[in-house]
Amino acid sequence: MKRSTLIGTVMMLSLGLLANQALAEQVHSLRGDNPLDAQSKEPKSMKWQDDRDPISRDYVQQPPLTPHKTKGYKINKNFNKCLTCHSWANYKEAGATKISQTHFSDRENNVLANIAPRRYFCDQCHVPQVNAPPLVENTFNPLQTIKRH
Ligand code: HEC
Ligand code: HEC
Repeated sequence: MKRSTLIGTVMMLSLGLLANQALAEQVHSLRGDNPLDAQSKEPKSMKWQDDRDPISRDYVQQPPLTPHKTKGYKINKNFNKCLTCHSWANYKEAGATKISQTHFSDRENNVLANIAPRRYFCDQCHVPQVNAPPLVENTFNPLQTIKRH
């Protein structure tokens, strides 16, 4: 790489970083301004709602929000609390929605006998619902034909 190109690249990267930083300063995530590798505490202001009817989804591909508390629900290598109610074996007895069939496919679309590893950590996608003000303004509107109620 020529020296001038190198300097150019470094400058562009720094500008990109600055722009990212500017964005990061506008949007305050719930974990505060902690770097990702630092421990964060659950924000004090957050009040989890009591169990209630699910808020309807805005579009079909949206992971439904969790309409109940999940405090203390452990998910680790050996145990997944969510599956004790949401697995196909247990959902009926628990009166819970069974996990989606999509959760059994790996990313090559092979259908597995058990939940796909990429879907194992449920709270990666399913978060408890809460009546919080949006972090950023959003004017999203779903296509009416595939709107989910
Ligand atoms: C003790 C049983 C139980 C456990 C454990 C449990 N759930 Fe549920 N869950 C339910 C029931 C019952 C419903 C249905 C509530 C309703 O429709 O009003 C539900 C609903 C949901 C829904 C909404 C589904 C939809 O179609 O709207 C999601 C998402 C969900 N749970 C995620 C989770 C996650 C993630 C965990 C683990 C962190 C978990 N649940 C653990 C019983 C449980
Ligand atoms: C990578 C993201 C992701 C993970 C991880 C994940 N889900 Fe989902 N889930 C989704 C999406 C997206 C949908 C809606 C579209 C679909 O059905 O695939 C969904 C749908 C659901 C539904 C509704 C099914 C229905 O018939 O309406 C339930 C219940 C559910 N998930 C439970 C779980 C549980 C329990 C886990 C953990 C064992 C889990 N999910 C892990 C993304 C995820």
